[in-house]
Amino acid sequence: MNIQITTQAVQNVECDALIVVAARRALGKGEHEVLFSSPAMDLDNALDGVLSNVCADGEFKGNLGELLTLHTMGRIAPKRVIVVGLGTEQKIRTQTLRFVSQIAAHHAQNIGVHQVALAVDWGNEHISVVEAVQAQVEGAMLGAYTFRQYQHAERNGTGITQFLLVVEQADELEQAMRRGQALAEATNFARDLVNEPPNVLTPRELAHRASTMAKQFALECEILDKPKMEELGMGGLLAVTQGSAEPPQFIILRYRGGDSEKGMALVGKGITFDTGGISIKPADHMEEMKGDMAGAAAVLGAMQAIATLRPAINVTALIPTCENMPSGTAYRPGDILRIMNGKTIEIVNTDAEGRLILADALSYAVKQGLSPIIDLATLTGGIVVALGHTMTGLFCNSEQLTKEILTAGEAAGEKFWSMPLDEEYSEMIKSDIADIKQSAGRVASSVTAAKILQHFVGNARWAHLDIAGTSYVDSKRPYQEKGATGVGVRTLVELAVQRAS
Ligand code: BES
Ligand code: MN
Ligand code: ZN
Repeated sequence: MNIQITTQAVQNVECDALIVVAARRALGKGEHEVLFSSPAMDLDNALDGVLSNVCADGEFKGNLGELLTLHTMGRIAPKRVIVVGLGTEQKIRTQTLRFVSQIAAHHAQNIGVHQVALAVDWGNEHISVVEAVQAQVEGAMLGAYTFRQYQHAERNGTGITQFLLVVEQADELEQAMRRGQALAEATNFARDLVNEPPNVLTPRELAHRASTMAKQFALECEILDKPKMEELGMGGLLAVTQGSAEPPQFIILRYRGGDSEKGMALVGKGITFDTGGISIKPADHMEEMKGDMAGAAAVLGAMQAIATLRPAINVTALIPTCENMPSGTAYRPGDILRIMNGKTIEIVNTDAEGRLILADALSYAVKQGLSPIIDLATLTGGIVVALGHTMTGLFCNSEQLTKEILTAGEAAGEKFWSMPLDEEYSEMIKSDIADIKQSAGRVASSVTAAKILQHFVGNARWAHLDIAGTSYVDSKRPYQEKGATGVGVRTLVELAVQRAS
């Protein structure tokens, strides 16, 4: 996707569609008026007041996400104008701009246009122009995302091929635009990995894509194979992969931000397909379990953007990846495994595989002396019951790190909800014959899963993000198509940038 900046007057920008915004202002007594942004006002003048006319007739109210599309019939250079509503004036924040750009760009993608210009231009006391530019570029590129490489091109056309960012002063905004672009491209890279079918995106293919990206963005890359896992004693990863014909991989990427002393580790669950194993899942929706590597994808996306933005911090990515399959060689309920740090786990349900491969990866991070450690995983159905598809569950052993992640999430436009790790929950994962029991059943299952992970983080500062509900949407939204969301990428990058400064 090509993206350029221009200082032309909006009515002179050659494009298939020009996106502008308008808000809603209360006048008292339940009355409202539509408040145009200055580019929208310029267009209204160039079009002899057609926008004001539509608003006066009450056909466009400026509600959040509301869309109005007008053909300009050759009167100005843009072939179409798309006006998108910002909602109530006082509530407009950076995330509002990101969100409405996403909706408008998604709409433009759906109507099949190619060249799209953006003139969101909305600074206020809460939003600087730089933030506004970054957010609108990010939103537009996220909204334009499609995953169509397995369909005939004729069926979908080429879609949006170019964005033009219309601003008054280009100089200081180029960097903000590139930042938004880097974050959106990294998010869309993660979405591609999640949307790929599981016959294509095997553990080896995931490792291949990670190393290709690493080369392109000048990151160090190391892939550990099965003999190396055996040497290291990664009993969790080796047990889960046992039923699969595909070899497991352990992907390590390293970013060095100058000679910084600061460091952090990102760990991502990389189950490329989760059948449940011998404790097999029901058939309904099982195809969605191709997305059980969304944690791995988010970590890879974050590494890509970090490599582009170059914050002064060292970041290590650790990704255990394999399939969870049932077969004559599969691991069983009743098995006892030994994780890399020496602790033993009694298996009670082979569908609780994520915690086992993460246990090895967390042990590896601790052995390398890395802290803080942030893991991302589509870990439990329990978190979907608790928080739905709106918020990611955040489990953290440090109040300070919890705050940092909540702040980073807010800046990135991603929502997190802090969940408990109280000692009482440990009772539930006691085993009669091993150090711990792998699962405590349905009650508080996202919490007990996190408590298991905590056994493998030693004294490191650690956060676990359960993205089972937020990484994948199973229906169309006005701002995105069905499938992967790329959740986590932008928050992780924001966290790295904040920790570096
Ligand atoms: N990958 C699943 C969790 C999941 C559920 C991800 C829904 C995305 C959407 C995980 O491996 C799993 O199967 N968890 C089980 C654990 C249980 C058997 C203890 C769960 O949460 O039901
Ligand atoms: Mn599972
Ligand atoms: Zn799983």
